[in-house]
Amino acid sequence: MPYNDKPINSLICVPLKNKEEVIAAIAVGSQARINYTTEDLKVLNIFAVQAALAIEKALLYEQSLNAAKSAQKQAKELQQTLDKLQQTQAQLVHSEKMSSLGQMVAGIAHEINNPVNFIKGNISYGFNYAQDLIDLISLYQENYPQPITEIEEKIEDINLNFIKQDFVQLFNSMKVGVNRIKDIVRSLGIFSHLDKAEIKPVDIHEGIDGTLLILRHRLDGNEKRKSIEIVKEYGEIPLVSCYAGQLNQVFMNIISNAIDALQEKGNLILIRTQMIENNWVNISIIDNGPGIAEDIQKKLYDPFFTTKEVGKGTGLGMAISYQIIVEKHGGVIKCLSELGKGTEFYIQIPIEPNQENLSKHSEI
Ligand SMILES: Nc1ncnc2c1ncn2[C@@H]1O[C@H](COP(=O)(O)OP(=O)(O)O)[C@@H](O)[C@H]1O
Ligand SMILES: [Mg+2]
Repeated sequence: MPYNDKPINSLICVPLKNKEEVIAAIAVGSQARINYTTEDLKVLNIFAVQAALAIEKALLYEQSLNAAKSAQKQAKELQQTLDKLQQTQAQLVHSEKMSSLGQMVAGIAHEINNPVNFIKGNISYGFNYAQDLIDLISLYQENYPQPITEIEEKIEDINLNFIKQDFVQLFNSMKVGVNRIKDIVRSLGIFSHLDKAEIKPVDIHEGIDGTLLILRHRLDGNEKRKSIEIVKEYGEIPLVSCYAGQLNQVFMNIISNAIDALQEKGNLILIRTQMIENNWVNISIIDNGPGIAEDIQKKLYDPFFTTKEVGKGTGLGMAISYQIIVEKHGGVIKCLSELGKGTEFYIQIPIEPNQENLSKHSEI
């Protein structure tokens, strides 16, 4: 082997073996003339064996590193697939639940509506009849102040004085009850017939202002609580193509909830609108109420979930809002809240509805 153009004159060479397989050779040579001995060869051989062992170890180590790396990668991929599957499953369960619930609710709302209308229509007649009869009795009492014993006994028996006072209240509470049922039925109707309205460009601010007008009586204070202040920070936003009635329903639901919350603590509702990227608008409704605990935040959008006392909440407001914003407008509705500080609900929707988003859920 020439080296520096000078010939090698002495050489000993041993194989480097890995499991009986020759993987390399180690040669020791010199330009000088050296008589290598068997002893030299032995030493070189020992060196070769050690080198082979070291190489083998290094190879094994590299292999095990590679194996660990690819196992980690596979585990990560598996976890991702699992997450995706769980998400899809949750979505499927959610939309399945929503659609069967929607059908059931539509049926119930329809069935309840007629009898409630009978009652509502007849309550005022019933009240007038009762009023007339009581007036008539009063007239009798004025003109015949000394009735026969039998009548006197009956008057005492039925506690006529109490009936005279109580019947007004009784009819009033029936009216409140019926109106409440009508509200619930209306909510259920909106909940299950969400696709009936059409999409048109509207001024979101008009919708919010209209909603606030309807809710105005609930903003005024009384002996028990301070009045609620509304602060509007309206940004410059163009007309938004949407289901206007439904969007107003969402404003109504969120603002009513804020008002309910402020009965407990706080007195301010801030409504902020602004353009965000990709031609979307953001509408934030922020209150300085008691806030929402984290475990409750997770259930906000479940149909019939309410923390309000029996008779006060239906638990449908946020479920309806979610359906309207996410499923009907392809938008986003999110809650940010800190206990004791307040709650923000923000809604984001595209100015022009994204056809893909809308058609994806149209069957619900
Ligand atoms: N701004 C808010 N502050 C505190 N809690 C809220 C707020 N908005 C919603 N919630 C909680 O979300 C629950 C569900 O609201 P919703 O679906 O409208 O049903 P409901 O108002 O009939 O209870 C409420 O019962 C309440 O616990
Ligand atoms: Mg509500």
